[in-house]
Amino acid sequence: MKILITGGAGYIGSHTLVEVIKAGHQAVVVDSLVNGHTEAVERVSKLTGSDIHLAVGDIRDKSFLESIFTEFAPEAVIHFAGLKAVGESVENPMAYYDVNVNGSRVLLEVMQSQNCHRIVFSSSATVYGEPQYLPYDENHPVAPINPYGRTKLMVEQMLGDWSAADPERSAISLRYFNPVGAHPSGLIGEDPRGRPNNLMPFIAQVAVGTSSELQIFGGDYDTRDGTGERDYLHVVDLAKAHVLSLNALADQEGHDVINIGTGHGVTVKEMVKAFEIACAHSINTRTVARRAGDLPCFFANSERAQARLGWAAKLSLTDMCRDTWTWQSQNPSGYKAREY
Ligand code: NAD
Ligand code: UFG
Repeated sequence: MKILITGGAGYIGSHTLVEVIKAGHQAVVVDSLVNGHTEAVERVSKLTGSDIHLAVGDIRDKSFLESIFTEFAPEAVIHFAGLKAVGESVENPMAYYDVNVNGSRVLLEVMQSQNCHRIVFSSSATVYGEPQYLPYDENHPVAPINPYGRTKLMVEQMLGDWSAADPERSAISLRYFNPVGAHPSGLIGEDPRGRPNNLMPFIAQVAVGTSSELQIFGGDYDTRDGTGERDYLHVVDLAKAHVLSLNALADQEGHDVINIGTGHGVTVKEMVKAFEIACAHSINTRTVARRAGDLPCFFANSERAQARLGWAAKLSLTDMCRDTWTWQSQNPSGYKAREY
């Protein structure tokens, strides 16, 4: 199949690009490079031995998107492009409504006019908000607690309406839990611009010496060891869930939502310990106050992913830490050294 991947020069998009090509599909990437890297796409080309076209442009630019659709005629879209920093979404919510919601609206309009009927969307466990029970299943009420989460929910709702309007259309929103890790080759990985917001890239920077210590946000939560607990999953497992979703869309009508997680929580301290084993040295940490807006603990019920997609996480916490370390130690400054 011909697949258009928005945000394919980013972290999860570049890993998915590998799996999409390995599955025998053809892919074109659309990315504005606001947070993505040309080098990531070039490295995927090298990894897969295929020449991948990266069209640099913004998903809000309708005529740009139309020209790509006309030239490539994709049969399905995997839609990663968007902004994803929770704190930034509180400070500048309009940027999030513009890129995430309006950008998705423009994309769906173009898909409609070009008769492209299938889409997989990057949603997030953040749509659930305060847990009323755990693990979250897909029937858990949705009540996101920040603008970023609300934009994800709005796009899910838009996909519901878009797909209901024509029986040929189908959409899957994958609600990711906490993706971490890197391709085992060490060629591609997560390369956040500036100070990382998320735990794993921060641990990796401390381990490689670019940051001096990890601040543990809160040591007094009601969890096994007092630190925050999350459902971390390997980005390669997540990438494969997208390929399986492309297959599932073929015999689906309307919109479906599917959790993508392992079903197991890992605390911050447990993650640090696992990473220390992977990098074979200790990681400086300091416990500080809780981060505003953080939930103590959440993890997925992932039975629906198994039932609908035949997907289950295969890679372990050890794999996640080993592959992150391979990437970070081989690329201490991320893609920067190779960019032009
Ligand atoms: P990322 O920032 O690495 O990738 C997003 C890509 O989209 C970047 O390459 C960026 O340049 C591109 N982009 C942003 N705005 C664009 C625009 N207007 N037009 C074209 N391209 C644009 O992020 P990621 O971690 O790979 O996340 C991918 C998707 O998954 C995002 O939608 C994110 O919200 C979602 N998600 C991520 C996580 C996570 O923990 N990483 C969790 C849940 C959901
Ligand atoms: N943490 C630290 N120190 C850090 C960074 C994080 O102790 O420097 C802790 C957090 O307090 C939390 C855990 O590590 O307990 C995980 O934090 P992340 O920021 O890595 O992940 P979150 O679960 O807070 O958020 C992530 C994404 C959101 C998404 C959410 C649900 O960043 O975009 O998962 O999918 F909405």
